[in-house]
Amino acid sequence: MTLPDTLWTKTNCVVIGASGGIGEAFVRHLVDQEQVERVHCLSRRGVIPFENTKLVGGVIDYETPTSISQVAGIVAQDGPLDLVIVATGLLHRDGEIGPEKSLRNLEDGALEKVFRINAFGPALVAKSFLPLMRRDKKTVFAALSARVGSISDNQIGGWYGYRAAKAALNQILRTASIEHARRWPQGVVVGLHPGTVDTELSKPFQRNVAEGKLFTAPKATGEMLRVLDRLTAADTGRVFAYDGQIVPA
Ligand SMILES: NC(=O)c1ccc[n+]([C@@H]2O[C@H](COP(=O)([O-])OP(=O)(O)OC[C@H]3O[C@@H](n4cnc5c(N)ncnc54)[C@H](OP(=O)(O)O)[C@@H]3O)[C@@H](O)[C@H]2O)c1
Repeated sequence: MTLPDTLWTKTNCVVIGASGGIGEAFVRHLVDQEQVERVHCLSRRGVIPFENTKLVGGVIDYETPTSISQVAGIVAQDGPLDLVIVATGLLHRDGEIGPEKSLRNLEDGALEKVFRINAFGPALVAKSFLPLMRRDKKTVFAALSARVGSISDNQIGGWYGYRAAKAALNQILRTASIEHARRWPQGVVVGLHPGTVDTELSKPFQRNVAEGKLFTAPKATGEMLRVLDRLTAADTGRVFAYDGQIVPA
């Protein structure tokens, strides 16, 4: 895939959640771009997902919030950033955390964790990484959200914690976009809905996906990069789906 070079000239990128299905696919697309010089791959284990001279690893764990500012300090030594993709998220874990069908299923500890991974973590990432963005041209800070975070689109209920945490993430991105625009007028801060993508996160829920609507991670990330490339500062603060449509608040 060749992308127009509005954003991608000598690009210094960060992918947070580079160990995940979607995060790793973003890294693979980015290293294939000639203009991309560096991809900082941040994850809990801190290892690069595959060997490539453009990749640098780093440790980030939202359950140790100091790791966020610490790794930002290390990334900053490599110069200003053009593109930050936050591809972390949590829907279910170890049979203990999972989407709740009813109010009866709500549990304090699970709600706290789902909010920490989907909302608090990305908020602190925005705090530490938005100040590192390049100022003299278009830059993009994009965080993986989900259509179910749309309040107006919620017709069927369920998935309390995940829905609410993604709605909170969207509000955090919107608020950060307004503050960021004051000093980075060409900066774009957005949420992304990837569609339903074949990763560990979606595995237990793939049975009901309509034919042709379960995307591979390379397909979904390729589409999302095309969307990001077309965005301008006028689009900042919104959530975009993989097909370029705006996801309503
Ligand atoms: N797949 C879909 O169908 C779909 C649909 C809509 C939205 N999304 C969103 O897309 C994003 C990526 O999802 P995915 O499908 O790629 O899921 P995934 O394969 O499960 O990846 C999740 C990523 O989040 C990281 N993570 C989890 N807990 C963390 C923590 N405490 N600190 C730092 N990182 C942590 C994981 O790191 P470890 O490897 O260390 O666990 C992993 O890199 C999520 O925000 C998800 O909500 C996905």
